[in-house]
Amino acid sequence: MKLFVLATLIAPHATYATSMHRTSSDPRDFDADLNMPGFHFVPFPFDWQNDPNGPLYDPVHDKYHLFYQYQTPRLWGHAVSDDMVNWSQLPVAVGTDAWYDAGGVFSGSGTVLDDEDQSVVLTISSSDNREIFVAVPKDRSDPNLVEWVLPDSNPIYNTTARDPTEIFQTTDGRYRIADGTAEGSELWECSGCEGVDDIVGGHKWEKIGMLQSKVEGQGYWECPDFFPLLGDGADEDVWVSKFSNTGDHWYTGAYDEDTGVFTPFDTEDRMYDQNTAFYASKTFLDSRGGKERRILWGWLISGKPEGSGWEGLQSVPRLVEGIEGTMLTTYPIPELEGLREEEGAAKFEDLAIREDGEVKQLDFEGRMFDVEAEVEVEGDGCGFRVLWDGADAHLDVMIDKGTTSVRMLVDSSVVETFFNGGRTSRTQFTQVTSKESVKVGLLGDGKVCNFNSLNLWKMSPYKFDATMVQ
Ligand SMILES: *[C@@H]1O[C@H](CO)[C@@H](O)[C@H](O)[C@H]1NC(C)=O
Ligand SMILES: *[C@@H]1O[C@H](CO)[C@@H](O)[C@H](O)[C@H]1NC(C)=O
Repeated sequence: MKLFVLATLIAPHATYATSMHRTSSDPRDFDADLNMPGFHFVPFPFDWQNDPNGPLYDPVHDKYHLFYQYQTPRLWGHAVSDDMVNWSQLPVAVGTDAWYDAGGVFSGSGTVLDDEDQSVVLTISSSDNREIFVAVPKDRSDPNLVEWVLPDSNPIYNTTARDPTEIFQTTDGRYRIADGTAEGSELWECSGCEGVDDIVGGHKWEKIGMLQSKVEGQGYWECPDFFPLLGDGADEDVWVSKFSNTGDHWYTGAYDEDTGVFTPFDTEDRMYDQNTAFYASKTFLDSRGGKERRILWGWLISGKPEGSGWEGLQSVPRLVEGIEGTMLTTYPIPELEGLREEEGAAKFEDLAIREDGEVKQLDFEGRMFDVEAEVEVEGDGCGFRVLWDGADAHLDVMIDKGTTSVRMLVDSSVVETFFNGGRTSRTQFTQVTSKESVKVGLLGDGKVCNFNSLNLWKMSPYKFDATMVQ
């Protein structure tokens, strides 16, 4: 995973008038740091964070794990959750302990194997893009899987690639990993492997060939992701192949297990998010309760310089679902609605914003909030205006013409918006400079700009327990 440093100034610290109180286990001070998000994951101790790595659902202990690129040189940070909403911070999971990771523990994935122990394996890439190695839990019976070990047989294979996917199986049980190269994604198979001991040891991995070759003109395929498309709207046997380079780009297509080649249905450029700052995302299979769904996390490159405290966010967890056979949507998981506050919620109907340049301010304020709207939009200048009282600053979230529904999550300095049930999404950032409340306005452009229904809720920050590292 390459390093991006964007030059943006940090907002001066100021006092924020808010009723949010802190608990002793939660180190986030929303009053002191106006940009601190409440429901996007930020690790503690506050430091640099980049892409999500190895997210997984552990069916043995019914918990979700999130790892992420953390600090310099890069380590795997680690947090655990019962619901992907509230988090407990855990100590660093994988540090720079071996010759192959001395320069940093780079990106990778997490797998829960379909064996008796439901073995967990993290597949990781070295900072020199030459070795792929694994980490396994020191104690599988620890409910939080706090400690991880690097088996002596590491690295499992050497190549000129990085960012291994999770281990996935062919229908006849062969284990495979894809990784990212300068030419596209390559595919590896564990030769004659029967279980976890073979997977993590024995040097049995062999390269099959290219899973998908890049299209002329594309850069290095970072952080590839490869998974079957799920959901009622998906055709049978549709696979999703994603790579990261200037944003996250996905294809759907057919995967021939025999040849190990993925063939996209078309090569149109489709992105998870319109903003290239949604980057290096990773999905995992959530099998809680025997149901299966795909959850996506992306790194939101918010642009604070490295060394300025916390930097980089994880997107809200998004559900990836098939629609119209071969297309997909990404949409906030329903669990997030658990953070909506009843008090202060507002509901509006039939608001038509007619005048060009009109801003209609709503009677609603909050710092973190969730908006759902049904709309009719015929021009390009219709949307939301997020206003910071006492400052000139505002952020406009424009709604493309033809859109029928909008979901907007405003979380201090970051806004994620989903259009038409998540067919498209757009992440935006701002620097909060006012200590007053955030207000919401609607923007008109003289064309049809109707908010037929509009629901707004304040959001509580998630419960963050950092006692394990305090
Ligand atoms: C990878 O390279 C290292 C050092 O060059 C070597 O010790 C190791 O055996 C190699 N591993 C495999 C699986 O080929
Ligand atoms: C998160 O924690 C809050 C506060 O304890 C709780 O009300 C909520 O149910 C938890 N989970 C979700 C999904 O909101």
